Amino acid sequence: MDTETQFSDTIPQPGVVGQPLSRVDGWAKVTGQAKYSAEYNRLPGLSYALIVGSDVAKGRVTSIDAGAAQRQPGVLAIFTHQNLPKLAKSPNNPDDRRALASSGMSFFPLESDQVYYAGQPVAVVVADTLEHAQAAAALLRVSIAPEVPVSSYEAKNAELYVPKTIRGYAPGVTKRGEAQAAFASAPVQLTATYVHATTHHNPMEPGATTAHWEAPDRLTVYDTTQGVSETQKTLAAMLGLAQDQVRVITKYLGGGFGCKAWVWPHVVLAPLLAKAVGRPVKLVLTRPQQFTGMGLREEQTQTLKLGATREGKLLALVHEKTSTTSPWEDWAETNGRIINMLYACPTFEGTYRLAHANVMTPTSTRAPGDMPGSFAIECSMDDLAAQLNLDPIQLRLLNYAEVDPTTGHAWSSKSLKECYARGAELFGWNRRNPKAGQTREGHLLVGYGMATASYPVHGSQGTARVRLYADGHAVVQAGATDLGTGTYTINTQVAADALGLPMQNIRFELGDTNLPTTQWSGGSTAAGRVSSSVYLACQEVWQKLLKVAVIDKKSPLYGAKPEDVAVEKGRLQLKANPAKGEGYADIMQRASLSDVEGSALGKYGAGYEAPKATANANMNKKEDAAPHSMHAFGAHFCEVHVDPELGTVRVTRWVSVMSAGRILNPKTARSQVIGGSIFGIGAALMEQTVRDPHLARYTNATLADYHVCTNADIPNMTVDFIDEHDPYVNAMGVKGIGEISIVGVTAAVANAVYHATGKRVRSLPMTPARVL
Ligand code: MOS
Repeated sequence: MDTETQFSDTIPQPGVVGQPLSRVDGWAKVTGQAKYSAEYNRLPGLSYALIVGSDVAKGRVTSIDAGAAQRQPGVLAIFTHQNLPKLAKSPNNPDDRRALASSGMSFFPLESDQVYYAGQPVAVVVADTLEHAQAAAALLRVSIAPEVPVSSYEAKNAELYVPKTIRGYAPGVTKRGEAQAAFASAPVQLTATYVHATTHHNPMEPGATTAHWEAPDRLTVYDTTQGVSETQKTLAAMLGLAQDQVRVITKYLGGGFGCKAWVWPHVVLAPLLAKAVGRPVKLVLTRPQQFTGMGLREEQTQTLKLGATREGKLLALVHEKTSTTSPWEDWAETNGRIINMLYACPTFEGTYRLAHANVMTPTSTRAPGDMPGSFAIECSMDDLAAQLNLDPIQLRLLNYAEVDPTTGHAWSSKSLKECYARGAELFGWNRRNPKAGQTREGHLLVGYGMATASYPVHGSQGTARVRLYADGHAVVQAGATDLGTGTYTINTQVAADALGLPMQNIRFELGDTNLPTTQWSGGSTAAGRVSSSVYLACQEVWQKLLKVAVIDKKSPLYGAKPEDVAVEKGRLQLKANPAKGEGYADIMQRASLSDVEGSALGKYGAGYEAPKATANANMNKKEDAAPHSMHAFGAHFCEVHVDPELGTVRVTRWVSVMSAGRILNPKTARSQVIGGSIFGIGAALMEQTVRDPHLARYTNATLADYHVCTNADIPNMTVDFIDEHDPYVNAMGVKGIGEISIVGVTAAVANAVYHATGKRVRSLPMTPARVL
């Protein structure tokens, strides 16, 4: 079916879409029935692999004594660079990298004696039990001749450079207009430098892969991945298999935050070892290994120069970011993106500076780029407001971007003004004393801060399949993953409404490469893409039933024109005369159809008005081909109490208002926003991984020493959504809510700290020593 022309906005209201329903997978989780990737324990002969990491950040393996380890009971194999089976395609081979686009790094360990980062696997032990593997690993002697490592871009031996591109696509330098000149002549000039600590994703569930060769050419992998298809493709290439010979299953995830979006060495090692020992192998990263096994958010410094008129109109933004990358690739978060697009500023210049250091490649971490970028722009905007005696919201409205400043395109929809207004009202922003450092509650200083949030609707597409049975049940399938945030639930809701069936009659299946292929749960794309493909697949089911009905003389719809028929609660009926119609079951029974199947592609930019807009655009000009700029927007409001003697900061009130297209489920969406905000408050106040400047090793790679927010750190949070109807982003009009929720959070906290104390803290985390 040509889905781009036939559908319209026909999700029936009121239905279950838009209702604050609890997660359909909730029962399975709280009763322990939900099987995570490390819980497939009944596989015959299951054995356990344990990675042995280098404790040296740079050097060369000079000798390996595996004798004592080898003699331990239960040991099946010990692999090092001397005997690890070869990969068919390796990230170390530049010619292979295209096929391995989802590899977390363009590096694979254990292919040479070189050590490039602390924690790099130098050996891996396989045994019949985890305890036997641990005992053997403890006896393994790997000698490494150490060299002086580069610990970060700040180290004396670091060499800074401006890359041609970062992550292979974003330019190292971006220019829009003459920002340097505009800054130099601006009547108001602000220059500020912002520093971010290294942070780690730390999902509750660590990286884990269980590999089972069911036949020599048939591999099943239970993996903690945000994208089963991407992992399937990468594993097949690395192992020299056809894609269909690898099945990847991820039924549940205990969080991911971006680190599970890529294929890391352990994911490949598990099937490689399983093949070598002839038994299924389970490989789970320990918590310390989680800090050296699946990427990180890189430490970074940003300098932002902001030029404005005396009235507060932006004239220039000049941004420089300096950060650490691995020895192999030019990786950096794209901070410049949000700084370039958030406000109506005529000029922008952004430069990325990198230094290779002895760390693994950083990776996507919840709202990569936009999260730290928003810290710089949103703190600087707060400074500008203070300098000009303007209210922070007033200043933002003064610079409101009515079109996307980077392209000149209209927004597909934008409700940011409504977010500011609603947030201010819920928060009581008008009670804010315009002067900083003036509000007290007892001996505590009280501060109010706010910040803008935005996140793009990224390109993505994928398929879903729906099978409707004559007894009124349906199975809906898409090879998506649920990070724990609601993919199961929202798609069950969409199918229920689209088919007119109760939720409990729908079974939504995901997390398996045997299901229709869809892309990863990353970049906040899954909700919009998967729900759109489900909705369109349901539409195909109606279309098929309609075709059967209109040629069936016994149907009340016999001879009806398709455009005169509507779908309502499991019935097809005439729009003009709803009584004239019948249920699916009747149509199917008369035609002896036990089931009807539909499948469809859900696609970015394919909202129901999109074909018209595209047709109207001048397709000869490349920049008109996508006539709308698609972003979610929002605003965070934060109250802090700061102890002036101790420098401790406590977030005491929080309001987030988001506009992200159709909110499929306000309860799961609210949980996303709360989760993202807490993640951001953690980055603002406590999260940091400390890398020893001499050894380039992490000193706090445990959850005891790496501080994350607990319940006691978080107040009761208020979340609201602006009802937004976007006919362009995708068939369901959903923009996604997973990443925007963290954007602007650190700035909202820092702005509140400034308002409380009169002191601007520009280094994260804002520990008491920095606040005092
Ligand atoms: Mo997200 S950081 O793209 O998983």
